Amino acid sequence: MPGDLIVKNAAQVVTCSGFGPRCGAQQMNDPGIIEDGAVVIRNGLIEAVGPTGRVLSGMDTSGFRVIDAAGKAVLPGFVDSHTHLVFGGYRAEEFSWRLAGQSYMEILRRGGGILSTVRATRKAGPAELAEAGRRRLDSMLSFGVTTVEGKSGYGLDLETEIKQLEVMAELNRRHPLDVVPTFLGAHAVPPEYKGRADDYVDFVIREVMPEVAARGLAEFCDVFCEQNVFSVDQSRRLLEAARQMGFRLTLHADEIVSLGGAELAAELEAVSADHLLQASDAGIAALARKKVVATLLPGTAFSLKEPYARGREMIDAGCAVALATDLNPGSCFSESVPLVMALACLYMKLTPEEAVCAMTINGAAAVDRAETVGSLDPGKYGDLVILEFPSYRFIPYHVGVSCVEKVIKKGDLVFDKTGMEAKTC
Ligand code: NIG
Ligand code: FE
Repeated sequence: MPGDLIVKNAAQVVTCSGFGPRCGAQQMNDPGIIEDGAVVIRNGLIEAVGPTGRVLSGMDTSGFRVIDAAGKAVLPGFVDSHTHLVFGGYRAEEFSWRLAGQSYMEILRRGGGILSTVRATRKAGPAELAEAGRRRLDSMLSFGVTTVEGKSGYGLDLETEIKQLEVMAELNRRHPLDVVPTFLGAHAVPPEYKGRADDYVDFVIREVMPEVAARGLAEFCDVFCEQNVFSVDQSRRLLEAARQMGFRLTLHADEIVSLGGAELAAELEAVSADHLLQASDAGIAALARKKVVATLLPGTAFSLKEPYARGREMIDAGCAVALATDLNPGSCFSESVPLVMALACLYMKLTPEEAVCAMTINGAAAVDRAETVGSLDPGKYGDLVILEFPSYRFIPYHVGVSCVEKVIKKGDLVFDKTGMEAKTC
């Protein structure tokens, strides 16, 4: 039966058990390890998790596909809770400009950066965007991602914002990965509104957001709250309107300048505040107090050569930290989950256990999906990864290289590296 699967004899099953965010060092350092473990998935949902002998004793396994995971670790499918996966064109030339000393924000001010991708995305047809998006989702799947968040924000006009969101809806229907859609109409001020950010915020609130809400095209609303982009007041106005229209809230906060984005996220009780490279002490304390997930994107700090977010301090302050790739054509063109986890351990001082929780249950919490994904708990979707190695520690240790052998989505085998390896001898 599709969706009926048993994984047995795993060297370790890492459950990351829970239905909400794990906050602080104690909760994040206990990923829940079962040795010689098994997972039973029936009809796409997890039915049982535990030691193989106990779970399978007396069970009628006929009709189940069975995978023997001896010598391998089994984890929940990863939740990449911050990406910009639908876009037209690429910006490889900007990589060289940045190496030559130009900053990310200077390039944007000159009409490049995000605005360059806006031009390419406006021009691209939906089929072209969907095909590029599908290839990116395939790659993410190979890294063990089974749920991904994707943002609009490369249209900055009604037509193209809707086009991006419709492409995401189509990808969600067609691809095994689940796509959580976010409306990021306030990603930059488009050329038509140059120097008139307030008027653009009015336009988004009046003309674009209601249409997105009416068509049910996005669950979250996001804003790039940054110096010379959208101020804290403009971001507040936009997000308050979004809340009125039924969106959950998330922010690009304190990425380049310490502007008070973390404080705003806490004030508005956003689900997640993202980036936070420059978050203040007060901002970190406020995120912990209000249980706003702190979503850290170390691939972006790495690519922009910016200082890393203070992940260790955030966890020690009691925050729920999530990790995500931020895949986009500019500040971080990478969907590598193991790179993100390695950077988090090496430069933000997370333990491998914390990094695993950050990429699973806390990623799920950051997109309001902790009830259904992000851990191996009975009742949740049967989304899991099987590694080539016996321990989760290999993920950050094997820097940047995926050691995911198989990916299971709702009980179906959707990626299997063993069937793809080139035979060289
Ligand atoms: O998360 N900083 C704003 N947005 C993206 C980058 C988008 C782009 O450069 O295309 C980010 O870093
Ligand atoms: Fe981003």
